[in-house]
Amino acid sequence: MQIAQPVQSPLSADLGEILRCLKCGGRLEADTSGGFVCPACRHAYPNAKGIARFVDAQHYASSFGFQWHRYPKTQLDDSEDRQSERDFIMRTGLHPEDLKDKLVLDVGCGMGRFADIATRWGARVVGIDLSAAAEVAARNLADRDFVALQADVFALPFAQGSFDLIYSIGVLHHTPDCERAVKALPQYLKPGGRLAVWLYSAYNPWYRFSDLYRKVTTRMSPGRLHGVLRVAVPTINVVDSGLRAVPIVGRPLSGIVRHLFPVNRSVQRDWRVLDTFDWYSPAYQSKHTYEQVFRWFESCGLEDLHVGEVPISVRGRKPLQRH
Ligand SMILES: C[S@@+](CC[C@H](N)C(=O)[O-])C[C@H]1O[C@@H](n2cnc3c(N)ncnc32)[C@H](O)[C@@H]1O
Repeated sequence: MQIAQPVQSPLSADLGEILRCLKCGGRLEADTSGGFVCPACRHAYPNAKGIARFVDAQHYASSFGFQWHRYPKTQLDDSEDRQSERDFIMRTGLHPEDLKDKLVLDVGCGMGRFADIATRWGARVVGIDLSAAAEVAARNLADRDFVALQADVFALPFAQGSFDLIYSIGVLHHTPDCERAVKALPQYLKPGGRLAVWLYSAYNPWYRFSDLYRKVTTRMSPGRLHGVLRVAVPTINVVDSGLRAVPIVGRPLSGIVRHLFPVNRSVQRDWRVLDTFDWYSPAYQSKHTYEQVFRWFESCGLEDLHVGEVPISVRGRKPLQRH
């Protein structure tokens, strides 16, 4: 009689190679519950609600846990709308041939909209997120070559030189120290591997008033702020559209409203509320210049630097050999 062997997916084989204990640096082994354990120091990384936890709390990122549970699929592409795919290309400059058959790390994966694209293009993707959003990503991409872990960019449970590509879109400016977060990543690239980040731009003057409002909104509970924005965002949009219909003075007046009350103006209603919440709720939000980000990439030894279509997007390559 033949005994059936458990089938290991290519990604679970990758995880066996790349996962490391945060306490002692030892290799991790999968436990029976879907978590991991370190055979060397016995530290356990338990599975809770379907994902392995490498942090004990969401810390400052709980507003993101709220938003991605509240809007788990709004920004996920479907057969009619490929907005996230367009965003991915514009913010990374990467195309399907750059991801096919690659082992990829998505830093701050949220509910998984960009890992959706990367896996569709043939990559095996590990998504990490500090918040409970990782649970949503795991559910959204349960049928993909994808694994979500709850982990912190400042303490990643991977061996150096693990990934062919690391991308992080709209995340690192939401940490307490964006520069340190960017500089934490190149060590996990294989030689020749690529890093692509997209950060908020310091060049945009429209942010001034929102910076003022954020002093209040970041102190509100996520539920309360969301309640306010569900009313305020559609109201501002109605006022704005009404003004734009008024001949001669309408457009300048609408410009003033847009300047005074910056809210997202996507076509889809839920997307507008979600993105406006994403702007006003996070505890940390920094803005950056190309000069800064180039300096950070270069100081980590990355080369072949390129900018993407939407500021501030920068990608670079780890040299094949250290010069
Ligand atoms: C604006 S969302 C972007 C999510 C996703 N990249 C997208 O564009 O849909 C920012 C994400 O970064 C995560 N995040 C913030 N600080 C983090 C950290 N220190 N380590 C890992 N993820 C972090 C948040 O939990 C949140 O899900």
